[in-house]
Amino acid sequence: MTHILAIDQGTTSSRAILFDAQMQIAGSAQQEFPQHFPRSGWVEHDPADIWSSTAATCRAAIEKAGLRASQISAIGITNQRETVVLWDRETGKPLYNAIVWQDRRTAALCHDLREAGHEERVTEITGLLLDPYFSGTKLKWLLDTVEGARERAADGHLAFGTVDSYLIWKLTGGATHVTDITNAARTMLCDIRTGDWSEEMCALLDIPMNLLPEIRDCADDFGVTRPDLFGREIPILGVAGDQQAATIGQACFEPGMLKSTYGTGCFALLNTGDTPVRSNNRLLTTIAYRLDGRTSYALEGSIFVAGAVVQWLRDGMGLIRKAGDSQRLAEAADPEQQLMLVPAFTGLGAPYWNPECRGAVFGLTRNSGPAEFARAALQSVGFQTRDLLEAMHADWSGGETQALRVDGGMSASDWTMQFLADVTGAPVDRPAMVETTALGAAWLAGHRAGLYPDQAGFARAWALERTFTPAMPAAQAQALYDRWKRAVAAAQAY
Ligand code: G3P
Repeated sequence: MTHILAIDQGTTSSRAILFDAQMQIAGSAQQEFPQHFPRSGWVEHDPADIWSSTAATCRAAIEKAGLRASQISAIGITNQRETVVLWDRETGKPLYNAIVWQDRRTAALCHDLREAGHEERVTEITGLLLDPYFSGTKLKWLLDTVEGARERAADGHLAFGTVDSYLIWKLTGGATHVTDITNAARTMLCDIRTGDWSEEMCALLDIPMNLLPEIRDCADDFGVTRPDLFGREIPILGVAGDQQAATIGQACFEPGMLKSTYGTGCFALLNTGDTPVRSNNRLLTTIAYRLDGRTSYALEGSIFVAGAVVQWLRDGMGLIRKAGDSQRLAEAADPEQQLMLVPAFTGLGAPYWNPECRGAVFGLTRNSGPAEFARAALQSVGFQTRDLLEAMHADWSGGETQALRVDGGMSASDWTMQFLADVTGAPVDRPAMVETTALGAAWLAGHRAGLYPDQAGFARAWALERTFTPAMPAAQAQALYDRWKRAVAAAQAY
């Protein structure tokens, strides 16, 4: 058995990628699935779509690679984090749509908990802030809102899971109800200091603990697939939330190493080693990975809109036909204009954490057009990353941080990556293998299966494609960034 199947279940699409024994891609498939926005600020997925697109892409990738299931040694799973599924243990049926990480419906509940003075303790236990982003308040909403849910939960009939957990349940035919520590760390129900579910957090949010999956290491035994799915049982041996999987895939194994992934949102993680560093600048403390029982922590900055701003240019504004057009347009923008876009479509994440804020545009002139909008959209990703890096540098006292390693769809844009280096005033490294999220999940499973090298060997295999070096004069970069800060302040005041 020579291959690893990596499942990457993301916010807008499900993907399956097969890696060969040299950790090279042998075949892949991708399927977008519908997004549901039932009310302003609400975002849902149908769990049936999550499952069917995952199963279909797995089969399609195996077929494209010309492989038989008997050649697949193990499966690794990585997934959109925080998204909540609640299902019936008997029937396997979800009680409601999956509530997606971007969903803001529990903003008032988070506000009330903050007003009641709980945030300090929540952060101490979970490393997180009281924001609707995380799973805990979403699960509470489901239990409080779906008719009969609390009673069925009390009787032990229901199971809660983040997307990894739900997929494992489906893949194993309900045989295992498990999650990995990185996904658990995003629920607001896990004590990241001990790696166990927190009774105190469950009590605060009124969550019965019998709903919760068992927490495992990232490279561990998560069960085997139903034999009818792929024609044989395949073990699931690796699981990590997508941003943690990217951290692994980027081989950010040493304290001070950091990566930033540009998917729907942008998520920067700084490895802080075996110490959970408490942020004084509104970043999150999270678990990067746990291998052989040893936990590595990270500081995380989460931005909700990165690649999604390009989607908005395409689908919302109709300014471009495909994502790649945004770079060409941005290059043609009038250098005299100063259009600034704050893409707070679903509020602002780190370091502002303002769920009520909405997007804003500043500096419009009679000549502003698609090119200036495209440039402002791509630049907003650079400005937001600088926000995160400034906060990280202020929080981190463990020595120099290393060059920022980038990945995800938007990292393919040379223009955006050059602007990122310019506005942050620091080098940006893009690896040869940009499928780092899937690679991270594959490595976890492949390492556990004995097919892939150990951590040190994997880190040595990481290869650089290109470094973007800052070219903009520092004073100009600072002036631009100051303008961004004023725009964010004004958007929040609106
Ligand atoms: O925390 C949310 C994150 O895991 C979603 O990632 O790549 O689906 O935007 P992505």
